[in-house]
Amino acid sequence: MSDVIHYAARARVWVLDTPSTSYALHLTPGGRLVNLHWGERISPADAAHLAEQLGDDWVGGAETAFDGIEEYPVEGGVRYREPALSVRFADRTRGVEPRFSGAETVDSGTTLRLCFEDEHYPLRCTLNYRVLPDCDVVERWVDLVHTGDAADGGIEVLVAASATWTAPFLTGYRMSHLHGLWYGESRLDRAEVAPGSALVITSRTGATGHFANPWFAVDDGTALEDSGRVWSGALAWSGSWRIAAHRSPNGRLQVAGGLGHEGVQVGVLTPERPFTTPVFAGLHSARGFGGASEQWHAYVAGHVLPRPGYVRPVLFNSWEATGFGIDEENQLRLAETASRLGAELFVVDDGWFRGRTGDHAGLGDWTPDPGRFPRGLRPVVDRVHELGMGFGLWVEPEMVNPDSDLYRAHPDWVYHFPHRERGESRHQLVLNLARPDVAEWVHAQVDGLVREHRVDYLKWDMNRPFSEVGWPAENHPDRVWVDHVRNLYAILDRLRREHPGVAFETCSGGGGRLDLGMLARSDVVWASDNTDGLDRLAIQHGFTQVYPPRVMLGWVTDDHLNRGGTPLRWRFHVAMAGVLGIGGDVAAWDEERLAEAARHIAQYKAVRPVVQQGLLHRLEAPGTGDHRTAVQYVSADRRESVVLAWLHARQFRSAKPPLRLRGLESGAVYELVGTGTTWSGDLLMNHGIALPLTGDFDSRLLHFVRR
Ligand code: GLA
Repeated sequence: MSDVIHYAARARVWVLDTPSTSYALHLTPGGRLVNLHWGERISPADAAHLAEQLGDDWVGGAETAFDGIEEYPVEGGVRYREPALSVRFADRTRGVEPRFSGAETVDSGTTLRLCFEDEHYPLRCTLNYRVLPDCDVVERWVDLVHTGDAADGGIEVLVAASATWTAPFLTGYRMSHLHGLWYGESRLDRAEVAPGSALVITSRTGATGHFANPWFAVDDGTALEDSGRVWSGALAWSGSWRIAAHRSPNGRLQVAGGLGHEGVQVGVLTPERPFTTPVFAGLHSARGFGGASEQWHAYVAGHVLPRPGYVRPVLFNSWEATGFGIDEENQLRLAETASRLGAELFVVDDGWFRGRTGDHAGLGDWTPDPGRFPRGLRPVVDRVHELGMGFGLWVEPEMVNPDSDLYRAHPDWVYHFPHRERGESRHQLVLNLARPDVAEWVHAQVDGLVREHRVDYLKWDMNRPFSEVGWPAENHPDRVWVDHVRNLYAILDRLRREHPGVAFETCSGGGGRLDLGMLARSDVVWASDNTDGLDRLAIQHGFTQVYPPRVMLGWVTDDHLNRGGTPLRWRFHVAMAGVLGIGGDVAAWDEERLAEAARHIAQYKAVRPVVQQGLLHRLEAPGTGDHRTAVQYVSADRRESVVLAWLHARQFRSAKPPLRLRGLESGAVYELVGTGTTWSGDLLMNHGIALPLTGDFDSRLLHFVRR
């Protein structure tokens, strides 16, 4: 069919080739689409051979021969697995009887489309598979179309997964996933999935959420950072979602995932209203968790981010320094100091708009507060620009405080049910962005701000989950769970088109809206409100499993969590592992501290191309107590490498082994910048380098340049 998608007609086998993997599908004589292989490369002839060996389409009790390998197991017929698709037709018939109706390749032969029609009802379901030339990701998504007319009635879609991923037959299955909460996002956990059991990760909040992240990795329990076979998936969706790994009693594991959460209908299909699921991307790595991350990072940089090559500036953010006590005078003071330090962007966080003296009021009234900014934002914007910095502004446009002019004028603009209390969180309610008039208003507000204040950078926040998700005038109010996100995407896409020079930060009470869907329209991610270095090391370890350092924003702040004053260097080194920001009250820092900060910022700028654009190796994972964490970045041409290493605490005189680096050029000699010493790549990789880390919260940055 193409160079990367092959079809063996007699065996009815498709093989999708990525640079180092194959993904093979087979349509059985009984018309079921099953997965034959997902792993290292095999030929179409090999896949045909596998197809021949498949058993009959037998059914016994609740089992079928194809349990655990059906590519998109629908609800319908004799099937009892987690359904990828569940629908109800107008006459109340539930379930689908799919009949294969054709295959085609589109997008210059990179996308395979497999079409199925229901045997009786006007439903077409098309499975899409896209392969990319430069990484091992297969993108999957599904189109659902009502092929009848109005007389057939709508088709309720109860579940519509983007994909069901079939792991190969392994002796055991372990699932890696990220869990968290506010102030502790993206923490890596690994759990065994036992036969007959399921592991479900989900968000029911209307956003990607803090509790889990729509990403998984499966291995047989033996994979390590740099070895072993790993299968991984990530969903491009920023609303509620669900990913369920089911291990059948026969031992096989499948992972189904898509938008929506249990009990909420995805939508209603009509001839005018088709439905396309978000993309669920998947990849296989034969080089361990690190290899999988390397592929994810390449995918995000090459195919997701709108501006992957944009050099993320060193920013200053006002939130921790001035909080809601913000005014023109203190922002000007901070801007002067931030610029002296070397910051390239100055972000005015929450508190700048009308009535926003605390979190109880103001959201929705997006004009500068006349009490605190009597001359508007102009003096701050102008000064920030004069100082050579970009100007950034915090907004939370999907929200409203009941104490606001917006809410007083439009109390019906929020999600609500007529006879239910409107449950507040952080004293705020969620605007019904599914309403076209509200979406239009939100766009106009933000567009106006960007134009009027010459904004270079928008921090787009979302600080509360949905509740009482009603829309009294709407017949199918569940659709807001999908349409809120679609309209949010449309607003962001439109703003990006209208203001191509503006960068976007995604934030949701810290790292609550981190996913491939948001990354497709963001430049930077606020990873957590927790800026404590030790906690951040764990968060960053989880974050980088799938998302690249070039979007991972961290701030150096005044000390958190009463650790008793961690060294400034330690805090800088933690934030320098991604996109560096400063969030401390720099106006109160003494000269010595400012000078040290300026040195770190200058050093960050020197190594930034490698940190932001290079290849990440997680050398040592964070643990607890007497532990060392280390990461390394290597430029694509292997000419430069940066190592960041942190000693959490020292106990019992214990010495640490030399740190072994990765990815350098064998036979090459590297200079350790600033020391005059040289090291061979082989020595650094095969023996390692001893690090003089001695006390609690000690850290080092090493910069190697090939001679
Ligand atoms: C959220 C964000 C913070 C800050 C505050 C402002 O919590 O994560 O960075 O912007 O809102 O209210």
